[in-house]
Amino acid sequence: MKNILVVHGPNLNLLGEREPELYGSETLDEINKNIADHANKHGIECRFFQSNHEGAIIDTIQDNRKWMDGLIINPGAYTHSSAAIRDTLLILSCPIIEVHLSNIHSREKFRRHSYISPVATGVICGLGAKGYILAVDALAL
Ligand code: DQA
Repeated sequence: MKNILVVHGPNLNLLGEREPELYGSETLDEINKNIADHANKHGIECRFFQSNHEGAIIDTIQDNRKWMDGLIINPGAYTHSSAAIRDTLLILSCPIIEVHLSNIHSREKFRRHSYISPVATGVICGLGAKGYILAVDALAL
């Protein structure tokens, strides 16, 4: 495990300001810095990508498919709608960890279904930004 791609989906660029009672007060830049620092302790390099656009997320995963040894993805609301991102993940041969800041199972009914979970290696949700750190640890093993 040397290279991890970290993908954040729609509206996660506004972390810190967006529903902080649900998603916490840390900004995405702060979260990414903590992920990078933690990954560096394991000798892992990270690339980070955030987009509000499904196609841009798909392009980035495709473009990094040969570079990455693991993928951490919080697809945001695309979790509950995107067969296209799921199909992209099926192209990968590396482990995939799906992360959600909130517990998607304790919220509205539509959030309980994930298109991504059946094709992910593991799923972490409800632990806030700590979930990304645990995902790095899982991939580093
Ligand atoms: C989220 C949960 C999704 O349901 C929501 O649309 C998000 C964030 C989370 O991290 O808890 O944008 O993925």
